[in-house]
Amino acid sequence: MKKTLVGTGIGLAALAFVLAGPQPAQATMEMQKAAKAAGLQVANCKHCHNAAMPKKGTPDLNDVGKWLVDQKAAKKADKIDVTWLKDKK
Ligand code: HEC
Repeated sequence: MKKTLVGTGIGLAALAFVLAGPQPAQATMEMQKAAKAAGLQVANCKHCHNAAMPKKGTPDLNDVGKWLVDQKAAKKADKIDVTWLKDKK
């Protein structure tokens, strides 16, 4: 019984994520894809976020994420370019 409930919970969470719409996922999957394309070791969202599945409005960035936001300000760029991470040491 317990197992089934957990399974249902995961199913519902996945469904909720899909129903929440492609928007946040798209913007972010893009970031992850770009990072991978740049040859960076980005396993998942937690590379730049504290949350495993960050939500729109509360990105909850970790040090890497904050660094990217700082770089955006420093470079006066319109948006974040994950390839900047290549310069981060
Ligand atoms: C290479 C680093 C990186 C990775 C990997 C990454 N993010 Fe982000 N994400 C960021 C940064 C940096 C911001 C802040 C963007 C800004 O302020 O312009 C952000 C913002 C967001 C936001 C907030 C958007 C908004 O308008 O409020 C969401 C939601 C999000 N990310 C979800 C995700 C999810 C889900 C994943 C995994 C599939 C992911 N991110 C992977 C760096 C990353």
